[in-house]
Amino acid sequence: MTNQTDSMNAHSLMRFPAKQVARNPWWLLMLLLWLPVSMLHADDGPSSNIAWDAAQVKFVKSGDPARGQKLNQELTCAMCHGEKGVSEGRNWPDLAGQNPNYLFKQLLDYHDHKRADTEAAKVMVELAGRLTQQDMADLAMYYAQFPLPPGEDPRFVDEAAEQTAEKLVQFGDGQRMIPPCFACHGTHGEGNTVDMPALAGQQAVYFRNTMRDFKSGRRHNDIYGRMRYMSKALTLEEIDALAQYYAKMRPPE
Ligand code: HEC
Ligand code: HEC
Repeated sequence: MTNQTDSMNAHSLMRFPAKQVARNPWWLLMLLLWLPVSMLHADDGPSSNIAWDAAQVKFVKSGDPARGQKLNQELTCAMCHGEKGVSEGRNWPDLAGQNPNYLFKQLLDYHDHKRADTEAAKVMVELAGRLTQQDMADLAMYYAQFPLPPGEDPRFVDEAAEQTAEKLVQFGDGQRMIPPCFACHGTHGEGNTVDMPALAGQQAVYFRNTMRDFKSGRRHNDIYGRMRYMSKALTLEEIDALAQYYAKMRPPE
């Protein structure tokens, strides 16, 4: 079933402007080959129990945001993630405007102990353990309806760091086989089809922490290990620069 995920991703890649693709043929090929290559490195058990087929996408979409709003209050989610998905603290991710499929997948992964090996994940594993899949869909559709978070003004990014980040986002790095971030996360950090999360305006501290968790392998719920692979190839300085870069990104009105 997971094959479906990749064929959908491959399909969405086909919509890239021909010019971009012609200039960067290496990473397009790499993205298309990711599934067969990653299967050679099959590790212990699937990284997630989700199977993105049409029925699963439809199920998330049928979530009831009004019920999600109630759950957000009753289950104390709002205490950390805010009334409308804009978090109260830097360690807590913003959920506003996030891709609902991505939100659903994360809640399911916490529930199934697929994203459970960091200190920060503990509270989520505990809370998501009590959610039904209907609750997850309702909550996902609730947060998804809001605009992306306003983001923060950059506090310590210098010009060189900003340029480093911009290069990685737009072109990746062929030598280290890092595809450009925009290919999956959207040209304005708005996310993409299936379960690619939005990054625009995300809390920089959370962004940095979760990238470090991918890098160390403590977060390992990314299907085919794509984020683990890329974050391992990045330096900590580059991760900091990317966190700042995305934190101040605003999608067009
Ligand atoms: C005590 C604070 C706290 C509460 C309460 C809380 N969360 Fe979280 N939430 C976090 C933290 C911290 C993380 C990041 C954990 C990690 O790194 O895995 C997180 C992560 C998430 C994520 C993943 C976001 C992403 O970008 O990957 C979702 C979705 C989420 N929470 C939804 C909820 C929902 C729904 C509730 C209520 C049932 C809730 N949270 C309650 C602190 C909280
Ligand atoms: C091949 C597609 C792909 C590329 C290229 C890619 N990502 Fe990702 N990224 C993903 C997917 C899929 C996820 C969701 C993983 C999961 O299901 O937990 C993700 C998750 C993330 C997250 C976690 C979001 C959250 O809310 O917790 C961050 C941060 C991130 N990516 C940053 C980057 C950066 C920076 C780059 C460029 C260096 C990049 N990604 C390139 C596919 C990609």
